[in-house]
Amino acid sequence: MSVLFTPIRLRGLEMRNRVWVAPMCQYSADNADGVPTDWHLVHLGSRASGGAGLVMTEATAVTDEGRITPWDLGIYNEEQVTAFSRITKFIESQGAAPAIQLAHAGRKASTNRPWLGGKPVAPVDGGWVPGAPSAIAYNEGYPQPHEYTTAEVHGIIDAFAAAAERSVRAGFRVIEIHSAHGYLLHQFLSPHTNLRTDEFGGSFAGRTKLTLDIAKAVRAAMPTTMPLLVRISASEYVDEGWDLDHSVALSTLLKDAGVDMIDCSSGGNLPHQKLTVYPGYQVGFARAIREATGISTGAVGLISEPNQAEGIVASGDADVVLLAREELRDPYWPMRAAKALGAEHEWPVQYARAK
Ligand SMILES: Cc1cc2nc3c(=O)[nH]c(=O)nc-3n(C[C@H](O)[C@H](O)[C@H](O)COP(=O)(O)O)c2cc1C
Repeated sequence: MSVLFTPIRLRGLEMRNRVWVAPMCQYSADNADGVPTDWHLVHLGSRASGGAGLVMTEATAVTDEGRITPWDLGIYNEEQVTAFSRITKFIESQGAAPAIQLAHAGRKASTNRPWLGGKPVAPVDGGWVPGAPSAIAYNEGYPQPHEYTTAEVHGIIDAFAAAAERSVRAGFRVIEIHSAHGYLLHQFLSPHTNLRTDEFGGSFAGRTKLTLDIAKAVRAAMPTTMPLLVRISASEYVDEGWDLDHSVALSTLLKDAGVDMIDCSSGGNLPHQKLTVYPGYQVGFARAIREATGISTGAVGLISEPNQAEGIVASGDADVVLLAREELRDPYWPMRAAKALGAEHEWPVQYARAK
């Protein structure tokens, strides 16, 4: 009996299984207008028909300057809501839950597409000056960001809430807040990137205030039946940096604020991070946070084998697994894994002759 292929319920929503598609930037909004295109419909749609329980959009910006590249998706205007509505409808028609990752890139904004080198794009070339908790560049060659004023930080909280309200109207059934990988919220969490002296800096309480205030504002903008997830980097792999103990403490606060699951990733905030990657290298974070706080967790990172994924949920390391690159290699991974584990999985009726 497979646990991976049993449904999971969060609040009022039941997902058909515990294989979820992780958020993955596509850098493919053609006109640099943040509007999803046919690429996003086919990319997300084929992963839904491939059998995942939940399909999440890429990091979707809550303001235009929060985009990692000018070609990222956004949910800061009505044109974007309309384009997303078509995609959410299709994902749901395939039996998967449509989820959106709401994001702001902070000092890592305004860069080029990875396949064009990924370097910062200057304002004269269609980029912009990014904002951050403190005026510290990510690395050599990156621009020095503008330090957000306290009023601007409050504006960002409002932007997340407005984006959540639009997400609900666009038909998303799950929202995830991106507080990982060295993007804006993670920059506020870390003592290395947040040197502020206002209410959003200083102590642990000050540095976690932005993530927490956004979680509360987003929660208030969603129906109570709808699940809310937060993705964190459970460690930033540097001395005196954000670590697992901080993540456990933050997860407790997020749980009290109405967050239903912590999606446990790691790293990305500092270029000199020291980490070793191996299959399932972040699973221990999901287990530790689940055990210490009682909140549901998602495990992600080099999960690619059906038995490995089954073991993670069956042993209680995490409630779900999220797959990224393996889902790029094979959108039908969930159907293949179900077969390998001897579990029942419906196929799209159009494909039944191949079963
Ligand atoms: C092409 C690509 C784009 C990604 N974009 C995002 C993103 O938008 N948001 C995010 O939180 N993580 C992003 N990630 C990280 C993945 O969600 C995932 O955490 C990571 O790839 C590890 O999982 P994997 O070993 O299954 O690929 C991206 C990864 C890839 C490969």
